[in-house]
Amino acid sequence: MKRIAIMGSGNGSNFEAIVKYFSGKPDFAVDITCLSDNVNAYIIERAKNLGIKYKYLPFEQNGKYFAVNNFDLIVLAGYMRILPDDVLNLGKFINIHPSLLPSFKGKDAIYRAFEAGVKVSGVTIHYVTSDIDGGKIIAQYPVLIGNLMHFDEFENEIHAVEHKLYPIVIEKLLKDEVFDFTDLVGSCSGNCSGGCAECH
Ligand code: GRF
Repeated sequence: MKRIAIMGSGNGSNFEAIVKYFSGKPDFAVDITCLSDNVNAYIIERAKNLGIKYKYLPFEQNGKYFAVNNFDLIVLAGYMRILPDDVLNLGKFINIHPSLLPSFKGKDAIYRAFEAGVKVSGVTIHYVTSDIDGGKIIAQYPVLIGNLMHFDEFENEIHAVEHKLYPIVIEKLLKDEVFDFTDLVGSCSGNCSGGCAECH
């Protein structure tokens, strides 16, 4: 059985999407551990409600923890600290970012992309290095910003794409496979290039 850790500091909606995705796949069992550096984070409440094991792991204890706990993949989902190289060397770490990297690295990326007036943004999943949001890109998926789109709609669509994309990419990595657009567009009945409700 594959083992993954999901690290988050806050809301945990990606964590919940990943848990639900794999709970619907009894033929591909994944053992999930939730780790949070914030004892009050809502991600911990979600873990309790979903029956997933969880641990409060202060930032300073990451090295000690990952030196003795082995995971096939360590998934950052809203983890708000920058991990140093000596921790990153202890596993394979990936992160999700709500823009098309290398544009809009760092905080408030959804808002900054919208304010800049970009017409295409999206979601990126990448390997983690100590260079913030700078590791090699694994997968991306676009979100188009129409002229009449409100910020809230755009933000909701970014999160909807995140929740769909992250679990599929995690499964691909655990199976040593490569993500391609067709893995996400596959459920679409038309030729919409990724923007329809069936795509995400
Ligand atoms: C997501 O938008 C993710 O892209 C960014 O932080 C947010 C985490 O959201 N890195 P949640 O905690 O998964 O709800």
